[in-house]
Amino acid sequence: MTSHPVKKVPIHLQSAQSRLFIKGGKIVNDDCSFDADIYIEDGIIKQVGNNLVIPGGSRTIDARGLLVLPGGIDTHTHFQLPFMGTQSVDDFYSGTKAALAGGTTMIIDFVLDQKGVSLLDAYDKWRGWADAKVCCDYGLHVAVTWWSEDVSKQMEMLCAERGINSFKMFLAYKDVFMLDDSELYSAFQKCKELGALAMVHAENGHLIAEKSKEMISSGITGPEGHAMCRPEEVEAEATQRAITVADQANCPLYVVHVMSKSAGDVVAAARRKGNIVFGEPIAASLGTDGTHQWNRCWRHSAGHVMGPPLRDDPTTPGYLMDLLASGDLQVTGTDNCTFNAEQKALGKDDFRKIPNGVNGVEDRMSVIWEKGVHSGKMDPCRFVAVTSTNAAKIFNVYPKKGRIQVGSDADLVLWDANKTRTISAKTHHQAVDFNIFEGMVVHGVASTVISGGRVVLDEGELHVTQGVGKFVPTPVNAEHVYGRVRNRESARIPQKVVRDPYEGKVIEISNTV
Ligand code: URP
Ligand code: ZN
Ligand code: ZN
Ligand code: ZN
Repeated sequence: MTSHPVKKVPIHLQSAQSRLFIKGGKIVNDDCSFDADIYIEDGIIKQVGNNLVIPGGSRTIDARGLLVLPGGIDTHTHFQLPFMGTQSVDDFYSGTKAALAGGTTMIIDFVLDQKGVSLLDAYDKWRGWADAKVCCDYGLHVAVTWWSEDVSKQMEMLCAERGINSFKMFLAYKDVFMLDDSELYSAFQKCKELGALAMVHAENGHLIAEKSKEMISSGITGPEGHAMCRPEEVEAEATQRAITVADQANCPLYVVHVMSKSAGDVVAAARRKGNIVFGEPIAASLGTDGTHQWNRCWRHSAGHVMGPPLRDDPTTPGYLMDLLASGDLQVTGTDNCTFNAEQKALGKDDFRKIPNGVNGVEDRMSVIWEKGVHSGKMDPCRFVAVTSTNAAKIFNVYPKKGRIQVGSDADLVLWDANKTRTISAKTHHQAVDFNIFEGMVVHGVASTVISGGRVVLDEGELHVTQGVGKFVPTPVNAEHVYGRVRNRESARIPQKVVRDPYEGKVIEISNTV
């Protein structure tokens, strides 16, 4: 088991380490792996190869016996999110610190504000929070929780001037964040016009509202009620609907937090039919299951409440991992949105008031290594693809992120595939008092982590600096996402049939019918 004492290193000392030589490791990219050394200067990978000529004053890091991976990219976090009457407890400092401890060197958080709030004002608020606190690089998605001409204009400005290329729309959280299908269609059309990626939270919000009222009336007020009023069909239906609406707008779609077998199947089937859709299972859905919501301990069960819920079918995580390994699902996040016991307790008498969300940002890499690679379902290259490279391609920051090659950012993880650790809230770096992976022994441990050329996890010690992470703009028209959209559009332009006009009689319509 590892625990990392946190030491804040002054920036002047860190710059002394700006020349790094990583020697003797095995580099793993998504498409190849090879033995080579890496020379880093000023936060950028300057040389990759053997027999490199290294300037004096460089620090050498011994990587023998270790894999050298592109730093993980967590596509889905909610740090310090104001939500359900409270605020998630991991903020941009503890959240990014924990990310780095686990081998994730970039996170993408969601700007998510109330209906009626300008998307630009919301964006500025999130930038203010994040810029002051982030210990690693970060990007932002923006949630569209209401629809108007102004929102449409704000989306344009966010893409043109603020480095945004992805927007999340909700089919759930009725009266709070939910859009109806015509608004969804308009938002998707706008994303397509802008070359942005549409993201969806896919659950049927109307059904959830009705089923939860029924559940409370029948006397079920505990966390199991949260799961029972959201059966997986409710997720699968909304996933299919979002895919259908996006396809009508010819807009690429990204399904966040794929939680069930049936939603995973819907994404896979759509891809086989040629739809441009990406699916994101999360550490929680790959690493644990929903049976915990029936635990006799209220805090334990409430600690697993999130939306869409973890599924009580215990074969779900393995099934989603198979889809991820095979390419049917492409990318992983965490939906890290954490609440302490007393915050979860807002819903002690009514599951509808339990703040939704679980941890994952620190443990995602190890959980996926354990359940994906150590189990024999995927090789290390596929691991890199689903934890880093595919995210970089989809959000258009590749090869700056997601690859080890000359010119890329020096965001690297020295990964010890043979080491194990036991996950616990007692030793994690997150601010939250609970861990959904408590007691899980995982193979695959980040032994050294380099973020922007700084050694942030160094021989077991975490050296993080608040505010040194940078906002990474995500440009529109990602080749990986939009590469076939324009041709697909021309191929699908409706063609009229040229025919002779009808020359016969036409009946008269009587007004009385
Ligand atoms: O339970 C969850 N997922 N909380 C965060 C908000 C969201 O829908 O992603
Ligand atoms: Zn969501
Ligand atoms: Zn418990
Ligand atoms: Zn989320």
